[in-house]
Amino acid sequence: MNRDIDFVVVVMGELKGKKILVTGGAGFIGFHLCRRLTDLTSNLTIYDDLSSGKMDNVKDVGKVKLVKGNILDQKKLLSTEKADLIYHLAAQVVVPYSMENPLIDFETNAKGTLQVLEKARKDDAKLVFASSAAVYGNPTQLPTKEDYGFHPVSCYGLSKVVGEEYCGMYRDQYGLDVTVVRFANVYGLRCHGVIHDFLDKIAKNPNKLEIIGTGLQSRDLVHISDVVDALLTVGSEEFTNGETYNIGFGTTTKIIDLANLILQILNLQNKTVITTTGVSWQGDINTIWFDISKTRKELHWNPKVSLEDSIKEVIADRKL
Ligand SMILES: NC(=O)c1ccc[n+]([C@@H]2O[C@H](COP(=O)([O-])OP(=O)(O)OC[C@H]3O[C@@H](n4cnc5c(N)ncnc54)[C@H](O)[C@@H]3O)[C@@H](O)[C@H]2O)c1
Repeated sequence: MNRDIDFVVVVMGELKGKKILVTGGAGFIGFHLCRRLTDLTSNLTIYDDLSSGKMDNVKDVGKVKLVKGNILDQKKLLSTEKADLIYHLAAQVVVPYSMENPLIDFETNAKGTLQVLEKARKDDAKLVFASSAAVYGNPTQLPTKEDYGFHPVSCYGLSKVVGEEYCGMYRDQYGLDVTVVRFANVYGLRCHGVIHDFLDKIAKNPNKLEIIGTGLQSRDLVHISDVVDALLTVGSEEFTNGETYNIGFGTTTKIIDLANLILQILNLQNKTVITTTGVSWQGDINTIWFDISKTRKELHWNPKVSLEDSIKEVIADRKL
């Protein structure tokens, strides 16, 4: 049997006609998820305050309603059209910012998630919560499994832990259908994060590329199209209720190797000098490397997109 055809048929069948709400839908992951969802449902709403999300993303999604609002605005959120399925992606996503502004980070990520859980409870909707590798902190178990436990080393990581704990509470006490997905480092067109930062720096000055930290930190880099596949399966399959899934590529790449790969693709390896600051930002993680065996097995999901091909795609899109 052709697994890709099965995937499309099952997911299309389950999500067809559903009323779907995506918080943070104007952001990077939300944009790509919503684009795919428009093929499956005509009842799609983005709820986003556009604090970091972009109106261009909303426009490029196509057939979608936008409610411009903050998830902390309970009245507005609860009065948004009833949903069957909610993807909760809205968040403050910058680790250094969370260390400078722990209260704002807590409000958006912890209290904000509780507000979205209330919306799901009111609507009797399934909720998919976007969590992060940051909940593991600096794990001693590599690759890291879902049951490793919570050891965050940043306020961002801790606010995601609180969100996850509330998800568990709502599942156990209110019987809410809720699935937690923990993302590693997601990249692709319109991404932010390390690849984007490197390309920005090179565009400004191709003679020098500064890495924050030692360059020996390493990341599990997973392409957005693989992430969206996993999100669609999680949203459509009942057996995922109450479960937590690691969404990564299942390998780890040192930041210095990533920098060298980008320079090689750009043919700048003999021109650009790589420097390191030595010290990274507070709350930074040394190694992200997910064990994705549970996700592979239960979701019948395999990340397919290679790093090299997709960096080329990102570079081509930015016309560097
Ligand atoms: N991109 C990654 O590599 C990655 C890794 C781990 C976890 N995650 C999680 O995935 C989710 C999506 O991440 P992303 O990379 O698309 O981030 P993003 O910053 O591109 O998108 C977040 C969106 O949330 C919106 N938002 C922020 N605060 C809001 C609020 N109070 N009310 C309403 N909307 C608000 C922003 O305007 C933005 O559109 C986040 O929850 C993030 O923590 C992302």
